[in-house]
Amino acid sequence: MLKIAPSILSADHGRLSEEIQAMEQAGADWLHIDIMDGHFVPNLTFGPWVVKTAKKATKIPLDVHLMVTDPLTLGPLFASLGADFVSIHAEATYHIHRGLTSIRQAGAKPGIAINPATPLSAIDASLDLVDLIILMGVNPGFGGQSFISGTTQKAGELSKTIKARNLSVDIEIDGGVSASNAFELASAGVTVLVSGSHLFGSTDYSQAVLELRRKAEGANAESIRAESVR
Ligand code: DX5
Ligand code: ZN
Repeated sequence: MLKIAPSILSADHGRLSEEIQAMEQAGADWLHIDIMDGHFVPNLTFGPWVVKTAKKATKIPLDVHLMVTDPLTLGPLFASLGADFVSIHAEATYHIHRGLTSIRQAGAKPGIAINPATPLSAIDASLDLVDLIILMGVNPGFGGQSFISGTTQKAGELSKTIKARNLSVDIEIDGGVSASNAFELASAGVTVLVSGSHLFGSTDYSQAVLELRRKAEGANAESIRAESVR
């Protein structure tokens, strides 16, 4: 089943718990939390307190995405805070195997993320170590950027490899996801759609989550409207 994961990067941070609860009530499946250190990406976001706040605010799985240059220290730290998934970037360390296994030992499901310019070959040897693969649809660091279209083909190739190896791994697209590309992504084999600016920028979260889910399933606008007024 396709999962929708709103990214709290685009939430109103002054009302973070309310925003998280509103997305849970709107039907979100996971909550995506972007940790940026100002070095791996040119932006700074949250620390551990946000994961603790989210853990108190919601029961849906917390999907922590580390955009940091020290994933070997921060991966197990965020795992120990109760995150369900902790993903680290393949570009951030020479010791990816150590990073992924230390996250699992600390109690979370490990994930691996790659930037748009990083080829799938960079994660080939890690596929059986992870529960989640994040393909970035934008260069990481900021919400609201345009989707880089080659990501769809990358997702399709990855999905084939995962099936051929009989692995059970979620494929997540992060960045530039909206109702207009949800169908092509889901058709390529993507199982988790992260969306920040599109979902948090909407006036009706329930309607926006429903529309993203139904568009991914191939529904047309008319049937989505009919379902939302029911
Ligand atoms: C970007 C982050 C994303 C971001 C996506 O570096 O990893 O999770 O919130 O934002 P949108 O959906 O606005 O592209
Ligand atoms: Zn992210």
